[in-house]
Amino acid sequence: MKVMVLGIDGYLGWPLALRMIARGHEVCGADNFYTRKAVEEVGSWSAIPIPSMEERVKAVKRVFGADLHFKEGDLRDYNFISSFIEEERPDAIIDFAEQRSAPYSQIDLSHAVFTMENNVIGTMNLLYAMKESAPNAHLLKMGTLGEYGTPNIDIAEGYFEVEYHGRKDRLPFPRQAGSWYHWSKVHDSNNISFAVKIWGLTATDVHQGPVYGTRTEDMKDDELRTRFDFDEVWGTVLNRYCVEAVAGLPLTPYGEGGQTRGFISLEDSVTALSLLLEHPPEQGTMRVVNQYAESRSVMELANMVKKAGDEMGLNVQIKPVPDPRVEAQRHYYNVERYVLPSLGFKPSHTVEGEIPVMLRDLMKYRDRLIEKRDAILLAGSNAGVNWRQTSNKVVKKPLRSELKA
Ligand SMILES: NC(=O)c1ccc[n+]([C@@H]2O[C@H](COP(=O)([O-])OP(=O)(O)OC[C@H]3O[C@@H](n4cnc5c(N)ncnc54)[C@H](O)[C@@H]3O)[C@@H](O)[C@H]2O)c1
Repeated sequence: MKVMVLGIDGYLGWPLALRMIARGHEVCGADNFYTRKAVEEVGSWSAIPIPSMEERVKAVKRVFGADLHFKEGDLRDYNFISSFIEEERPDAIIDFAEQRSAPYSQIDLSHAVFTMENNVIGTMNLLYAMKESAPNAHLLKMGTLGEYGTPNIDIAEGYFEVEYHGRKDRLPFPRQAGSWYHWSKVHDSNNISFAVKIWGLTATDVHQGPVYGTRTEDMKDDELRTRFDFDEVWGTVLNRYCVEAVAGLPLTPYGEGGQTRGFISLEDSVTALSLLLEHPPEQGTMRVVNQYAESRSVMELANMVKKAGDEMGLNVQIKPVPDPRVEAQRHYYNVERYVLPSLGFKPSHTVEGEIPVMLRDLMKYRDRLIEKRDAILLAGSNAGVNWRQTSNKVVKKPLRSELKA
């Protein structure tokens, strides 16, 4: 199978490309290096240093003997994406190429609008390009479990049976996203569903929970590593806690810490996605997949990182900070999963088992983490991204060192 990975330079895109190559598929990919630049914008960098794309392509050739065709470009440019698809004629297209930080989308009007433009227009361009040049290809679009919010009932896998005034129908499960970023994903899901309906495209819309981890089994070489973000804006909760523990900072759960989400390791995410690619839905249909391995509250995660860190002699403290987000502190959370189990997917990693691996991997980069500690959560201050008070202009945030002074 020929697979096109859009957003191939990212945390998930790179390991999935490696997995598909390792499984004998032909892989090409595109990226505009937006994440590298946007992480710099907030004064941070990837905890694990990552090589240039040129070096990555050479490493793939050296380790796997495979040719990876990379093209730099922006999905917001229709001519770019349509000509790339026209040239490559892939069997499957994976779309990771989006602005993926909820806090970034909440900074102010310009970041919210950028998120909508980048994500929604990028997906629209892709849908039209597929209609023109690859109408039979399988689109695997990465969405998020955050599209559903935290309703007080079980979360169905995309669709559910509803009875209203004595009549029944199978309808999309309600979306109640909690940030402009998550709403951009909802808009994508709606647009993909409509494109499938009117043009007969074939799509899988994956609703995935936060991913954690520093490695996959395909990263046999330092040059094959993927990025790992940890700052307040780009780091997801468990990855950020592990960096806080290694950098000697307290772990900073938001508010009461009862916020519960479905987590999955990088290894399991890549395994699940490769299964979905190798088992596409019926031509002309839309499949929705809920993808996660275990539900955990953010306080449970903090306690697990503390336990593992203390066992390594790190003396980890937990210091909850006021929740900058508008979200339920305690809530019911049960997300249904049917598609992946039906394909034989069984998670191989647990949060508890993977934390010590992450801590050990990150210890090697302790100096890099300490150098950027100002970018990790501005603990206890009101200087972080406050979701209720997002402004219509960009406000420079004080650094941790300035707050102490
Ligand atoms: N990491 C997670 O925990 C997680 C969880 C659920 C869903 N997701 C989704 O999975 C996808 C990949 O996430 P990630 O963690 O790898 O993010 P990432 O930011 O590391 O990777 C995204 C890649 O897409 C590129 N990109 C962004 N906009 C682009 C554009 N307009 N044109 C071309 N390239 C563009 C970026 O430069 C980056 O390399 C995202 O859509 C994200 O929303 C991630």
